[in-house]
Amino acid sequence: METIIKRISTRNYLDEELDQHEQELVKNIIDLENSAIFGHTFEVKLVDQKFMKKNKVKRIGTYGVITGKPNYMFAGIENDNQSLIDYGFVLEKMVLDLTEKDLQTCWLGGSFSRRTLFKLYKLSNELFIPAVVAIGKKSEKKSFVQNLMGSNYHNRMRFEEIYYDNKPYAPLNALTAGEYFEPLEAMRMAPSAMNGQPWRAVLEGDKLHFYCETTNMIKMKYVDMGIGFSHFDRLCTQKNIEGRWQLLDIPSTSKLQYIISYVK
Ligand SMILES: Cc1cc2nc3c(=O)[nH]c(=O)nc-3n(C[C@H](O)[C@H](O)[C@H](O)COP(=O)(O)O)c2cc1C
Repeated sequence: METIIKRISTRNYLDEELDQHEQELVKNIIDLENSAIFGHTFEVKLVDQKFMKKNKVKRIGTYGVITGKPNYMFAGIENDNQSLIDYGFVLEKMVLDLTEKDLQTCWLGGSFSRRTLFKLYKLSNELFIPAVVAIGKKSEKKSFVQNLMGSNYHNRMRFEEIYYDNKPYAPLNALTAGEYFEPLEAMRMAPSAMNGQPWRAVLEGDKLHFYCETTNMIKMKYVDMGIGFSHFDRLCTQKNIEGRWQLLDIPSTSKLQYIISYVK
């Protein structure tokens, strides 16, 4: 849980490159074999400063949003809902591994140049880059955007607003959530595009059914869902909760799209 609490979106990075040891840490984390809920694996690419210099690329992150010289990671993927969820899942696992090693990160869904990455990596037009993650060491200098976001630290909806108990249908709390309390808290603390927090869950016995809140729906919410699942899954593993992800026959409603369940 410490890592979950420590992670915060960082938009201001040092101008210096990471040292050799840090570069290796990043590379090892990104190169680890990855797997996700719906079975996709991704070839995650690391865009480091050396590579950018060699190719005369000044920046990937938008001017004014990201300052300093971070590295970036991303993959080109197919643009369907389950791939987007898995993309969030896999990259957020890396984000948390990087956080554990005292490196800072920021997901960027809008504030980066897709065109530059497509050109640099000669990606096929059939692929899509949903978002990238900036990686580096934070600088104390604050950008305009960081100043705006500064007071937002872990500003989230309340536990009872997003998680429910099926019987009787009522808000879930620390007591009724039982062993799922911490994994659900970890999900609640996850980053999401524009802090949209689309994660919803209903507890039924020892099964948890997860939904995506679809008011003002944008595709990026599927990436957010995967990011939340990554936090949940990490805490379940840490707490030795032996469950698995399973698609059940559960209906969606007009505002809640059923995504997947966690069952024992
Ligand atoms: C998929 C995704 C896309 C994001 N895109 C941007 C972005 O384009 N620009 C930006 O400044 N922050 C972006 N963020 C960061 C969110 O604004 C941030 O996660 C949220 O406000 C919660 O703050 P925290 O991460 O510090 O806890 C993005 C986050 C996610 C998960």
